[in-house]
Order: sequence, then C-alpha cells, then structure tokens
Amino acid sequence: MKFAEAHALEKVEKWKSGRVEELKSLVVSLAKQGKESFFYFIKVKLSAKPTPLFHFSTSPLLLFRSEQQISICGNAGTRVSFPAIMDLKIAVLPGDYIGPEVMEATLPILEKALKKHGHTLEYSVHPVGGAGIDACGKALPDETLAACRAADAILFGSVGGPKWKDVPRNEQPERGALLPLRKNFELFANVRPGLLLPALMQSSPIAPARIPNGIDMVCIRELTGGIYFGQPKQTTTLPNGELEAVDTMRYRTSEIERITDVAIATARGRERKTICLVDKSNVLETSVLWNKIVTERVAALAPDVTLTHLLVDNAAMQLVANPGQFDVLLTENMFGDILSDEMAVVCGSLGMLSSASLGAQKNRYGFPFGLYEPSGGSAPDIAGQDKANPCAQILSAALMLRHSFGLHDVAAEIEAAVRATIDAGTRTADIAFGGNAVGTKAMAAAILEKI
Ligand code: IPM
Ligand code: MG
Repeated sequence: MKFAEAHALEKVEKWKSGRVEELKSLVVSLAKQGKESFFYFIKVKLSAKPTPLFHFSTSPLLLFRSEQQISICGNAGTRVSFPAIMDLKIAVLPGDYIGPEVMEATLPILEKALKKHGHTLEYSVHPVGGAGIDACGKALPDETLAACRAADAILFGSVGGPKWKDVPRNEQPERGALLPLRKNFELFANVRPGLLLPALMQSSPIAPARIPNGIDMVCIRELTGGIYFGQPKQTTTLPNGELEAVDTMRYRTSEIERITDVAIATARGRERKTICLVDKSNVLETSVLWNKIVTERVAALAPDVTLTHLLVDNAAMQLVANPGQFDVLLTENMFGDILSDEMAVVCGSLGMLSSASLGAQKNRYGFPFGLYEPSGGSAPDIAGQDKANPCAQILSAALMLRHSFGLHDVAAEIEAAVRATIDAGTRTADIAFGGNAVGTKAMAAAILEKI
C-alpha cells in the first residue's frame, strides 16, 4: 500500500495539472500489480455526490474528480486518502462527569495531528445532558442543536448521572439529549469496534486460551428504529386499575437495507469479510423481516461477503465462549445495545472503546455526518479525580476523521500513538493491572508527544 500510495500521489499531482491519461494508466497498473483492483474518487466539495470523471470498461475501476479530497479505494472496501487541505468544523459536546475531562485530553491531540497534516480545525464547545439542564434547563439546548446542525460532525463525551436522577424521565440526559440527537440527525448506524490489543490481553475476562488470535470485531447496530422509537410507547391504566406499559418493535425494509449496506461496506474493508446477522427469527416478526432482507441484499449486492446467522441468545453465549469468531456483527437496536456492552467487556476496558453513529445526511465534504463518542459512559464514580482513561474519546476522534472526513492517514497516526503509548507501559488504572498507573492528563500528554 505504501508504494502504491507514494506512486499515486505523484501521479495525482500530475493529474492536477491536466494529465488525466497518465492517471488512467496508473489505475490500470495498480490493478494489475496488486491483489485487488482500485478505483479512484475525488470528493466534490459542498456536494453529496462525487463527480465521475471517467469509467473504465474493466469495471470496477472508476475515477471521480473535484478539488477537495482524493481517495484510492480498493474494490474490497479499503481506502487510502490523500489529504487535500480540509477545514474541519466540529461541534464539541463534552457532557457530564468524566466527559469534559476526557474531551479536554482529546482536543489537543486532534488539533496537533490535523495541523501536522496541513488541515485546520474549528470547533465550538456546547453543553449537553446534565450540563445542558444546569446551563439552559434542557438536556439538548437549542443552541447546542443549532451548533450541531452547522457542523460537519459531532464529537460527544458522555451524559447522565445521579445528579439528574430526579429530573422527569423524558427530560433526563439520556432520553432528553442522546436519543433526540440520534433521531434528529437520523444517526441510524452505530459502529462499535471491539478490538482487544495484544498488550491488553489481561484486561479481558476471557481466558487467553479461548482467544489465541485476540479479538478484532465490529458491532454494527441499527440506532434509530426498533423498540427504542416504535409507537405506541406508553403506560396506561386498565379498567381494573392495573398499569399496562407497551413498547413497540417496528422495522421497515428501507431501514434494514441501509444498515445492511453499512455492514457490507465495513466487511469489505476487513480481511475476513464476514457478516454475522443476529436476530430472534424463531420468535419475532421483525427478525423474520431482517433475516429476509439482509439475506437477499447480501446475495444480490455482495457475493464477495459471507453472511452467517445467529439467534441472539446463542450470540450472547458465543461472545463469551468464542469471541474471536466474530468479524462484523449486524443487529437491530436493542440487541445491539446489549451485545455491544458484552463485546466491550470481553475486549477489556470500556475506557478503550470508541464508537461512531453515522447519519443518513452527508456533511459539506460528502462524507456521512456523524456523532462520535466513547462507549463507556460518564463514570460518576471516578469523575473529577484525573483517573479516567481518555483513550476511548481519543479513538472516537480518530473514527470521526475516518468516517466523516476520509482522513485515514491522520486517524491512523492518532491510533498508532495510542497503541505506542500503551505498549510503552503508560497506562491509566483501568488497564494497568495493578502496576504503575498515570492519570488522564499524563496519559493524554504521552499520546500527544507521540504525534
Ligand atoms: C448506548 C447507551 C444508550 C442506549 C442509552 C444511554 C440510552 O446504552 O449508547 O448504548 O441504550 O442506546
Ligand atoms: Mg448501551
């Protein structure tokens, strides 16, 4: 990839000066020399769709052009991006308890990495969750929502905690901020990478013998449908005085199709290219529909991807019995909520797990608008003590660079800095295994130094 990247960069420079034919032949030679063929696309600024420049008859090679972003994409979904100068506009929502601490640790790292690659970062910080309630009387203040609308992506900390437990249910940080944000921006695809680093093997509760190859999986959870949002959703009093509550699990074809497409794209970017669909199709109608749509879609659009099936109870068991078997796990909203926490714990510390919630809308650069947050929550028990592990927040910022800006090189640099810091033995308490631990600030400083 390195050779191809350098070679291609040089050629792209030439293309910029009008020598399209040369680039065409580069694409062909890359296709011939590599194990996979390539196509190019170059993102169009301020437009959702890249503009095709020419198509090769030997599909799947395509070239797209614009001034902003240049990427080489393998037909297997891998991508190398060339950083044209980008000005990233981000809404930063630190939230509650450890949220502001890990956010403060992250921003200098993000800024330094972007600057090093010639990009600029413009961000504004806004209250959300309990902080929103305290500052503006509302978990998702109007100005916070407006700032998110004006941004290319949202970098989110964590919300909720005991301080706001007496606030009316629907106004609490989780129900009042996180769920409305998901719904407002149609963040339908929750991508949670479950990666157990070799250096952190001990942090997994799973016996090492069961995970000889570690864990490297991704949970793709549908996030704006199902029982979280389905109507009716209410509590009523029956004629005999009993209370009755109802939640509704509802899914339609288009909702299942678009999340399946995210799973296919994710699987294609990975070695094993395998999707495991998790459902309860021996009981639930919605699961029968999921099963039908996903099976048909993968067969029609992705014959190169292997699809396997597990019932959700069995999947919960397999995740502890043999987590290494999973590559891409695809599932509906509530199953994904539960299984992604299980995945988090088998992968060791919650303090290491990032997540991306990708929207149906595109940002100014034509990439998905998204919300990026650590999976671990606001951790009130360790808040304000400089104890929280900032890695999940830092890795979430890296995910943002990948998904919402296509800046894979910058993201990779941040991810490598996190790994190198951990490998060098600098650890927060949650991943120190009783050894010397550093605080949030020192951990972040060590990572910053490696950029
Ligand atoms: C998550 C969380 C949320 C969810 C809560 C806080 C509403 O558990 O992001 O997984 O259930 O989706
Ligand atoms: Mg959850």
